[in-house]
Amino acid sequence: MFQLAPNHQNDIVRTAKVSFTFDGKSLLAHEGESLAAALMRAKLLHLSDSPADGSPRGVFCCMGLCQECVVQVGGKTIESCRLPVSQDLQVISGRR
Ligand code: FES
Repeated sequence: MFQLAPNHQNDIVRTAKVSFTFDGKSLLAHEGESLAAALMRAKLLHLSDSPADGSPRGVFCCMGLCQECVVQVGGKTIESCRLPVSQDLQVISGRR
């Protein structure tokens, strides 16, 4: 016998929306969610290029291990999966 899992969609408490930019493009995210999640929801999957062969790189492990999701924020290279989005965050991709 099948039993449908309860729908908890309405139990999710979302934080306020904030705006940030990615390569100058204005985007919205829920404050505190990871930058990687916000970029994936915006269908921005190409975050940088491989230094070895220039192939596209993007979110892979989602836990700060692979370094595939690195972007530039405030002049520093940082993993987007480990960075919470905040209001007016300015993000630059590592794309060439
Ligand atoms: S996705 Fe692997 S470090 Fe961010």
